[in-house]
Amino acid sequence: MTTRRAVVPIVILNDRNGDLQTPHGADAADDPMEDTVTESRSKAEPTFPMNAWYAAAYDVELKRELLPRTICGRKLVFYRRADDGIVALEDACWHRLLPLSKGRLEGDDVVCGYHGLVFNPDGRCVSMPSQETINPSACVRRYPVVERHRFAWVWMGDPALADPATIPDMHWNHDPAWAGDGRLIPVKCDYRLVLDNLMDLTHETFVHASSIGNRAVAEAPFDTTHNDRFVTVTRWMRDIEPPPFWAKQLGKPGRVDRWQIIRFEAPCTITIDVGVAPTGTGAPEGDRSQGVNGFVLNTITPETDRTCHYFWAFCRNYRLGEQKLTTDLREGVTRIFGEDDAPRGSAFVRLGLSDGDTSPFRGGWQAGLRWDQVVAGRPDSAFSIGLHQGWLSKKYRANIRDTGAAPGKAESGLEITYSDTIGRLTVQPDLQFVHHPGGERGRKTAIVAGMRFTIDLD
Ligand code: FES
Ligand SMILES: [Fe+2]
Repeated sequence: MTTRRAVVPIVILNDRNGDLQTPHGADAADDPMEDTVTESRSKAEPTFPMNAWYAAAYDVELKRELLPRTICGRKLVFYRRADDGIVALEDACWHRLLPLSKGRLEGDDVVCGYHGLVFNPDGRCVSMPSQETINPSACVRRYPVVERHRFAWVWMGDPALADPATIPDMHWNHDPAWAGDGRLIPVKCDYRLVLDNLMDLTHETFVHASSIGNRAVAEAPFDTTHNDRFVTVTRWMRDIEPPPFWAKQLGKPGRVDRWQIIRFEAPCTITIDVGVAPTGTGAPEGDRSQGVNGFVLNTITPETDRTCHYFWAFCRNYRLGEQKLTTDLREGVTRIFGEDDAPRGSAFVRLGLSDGDTSPFRGGWQAGLRWDQVVAGRPDSAFSIGLHQGWLSKKYRANIRDTGAAPGKAESGLEITYSDTIGRLTVQPDLQFVHHPGGERGRKTAIVAGMRFTIDLD
């Protein structure tokens, strides 16, 4: 191989998805301002329905202590007053914006942990330790909050529109005719993907095959109806073998009629009427007396545009006094839901990967050297060696993080290529060494060998 001619390095800067290029590769994950930026953007451009009640906490989470929680991109702090009522305030002090949740409760008031301003449950400042008069504008926003169906419901929009009559119906959670319990699961995806997961239960057949899934769920026909308030999906699976979970709950041998009646209430509440009864005992016609019935209650509150608080409960109308069964069912359902959100291969996370921005690079560069006529007597022979680096976009890195892997800042590579043309055929063998392939820090280097053939048809 001889070098006849050297070509100057080529440098290309590109911007494939419109993100700003920062040659120093500013890194979202390491940028302490990122939260601030996301927060202010969320405030400027709310992407959530704000005039709605959202479950903010389970009743047992709320105590005589400060509980910070982000709802619809806004930081709030919750606590119980001495009379057991619930307070929801903006979690930022009027003075220098220190989170009030980093302060302390004094009676029913919150004392800021920085300079000691005191705010009452209405959000009004009632004490400024370093001055005698209180600035009348000193207050933080108070949010309407109502405790119902074992949840604290907070209204994020115009307080004048906050009507407790519009709180979603989840009465099974405290009705003495039902027994049950549930949990809060933090989920790393847009809240609407959890709604999608719950409205389409055909995934049970494949994700939950060892408990509540069997082929009937995916194969049975269903009806969908709606009115001003609800969308309802009704699926009856008649004369089927019960899946393991329901066989155990029913405690009787034989085939069953199984039902799933899924009801969505905007913006984010889904209740699912579920159960089985021995085949032929009249359940599809309305007599469920020989069967067992449960309600899966779900309300999914957006935290940010990429994360949500998933509150759920499973309530049953049989063996009401058995606390052990309540606990076993809560743990069992937690395990089943864990199948939807296993750290890797999560149904939610995989859905999250296709939520709109999977374009990996926000910019990059390439540079290389090429030598033409490297083989004596072969005028079209060429050899090139190139380096490239692609800076990964924030969202793509967040997607990698959601799968449980650590993202790199960039994918880099070294590429060696030879090409030659014989008649109409151009042959181009190629060898690449890629560092952090796919942007994952854990995957150090991949070696990719390629061969390209091009036929000139002119
Ligand atoms: S920041 Fe709260 S009192 Fe100064
Ligand atoms: Fe599921």
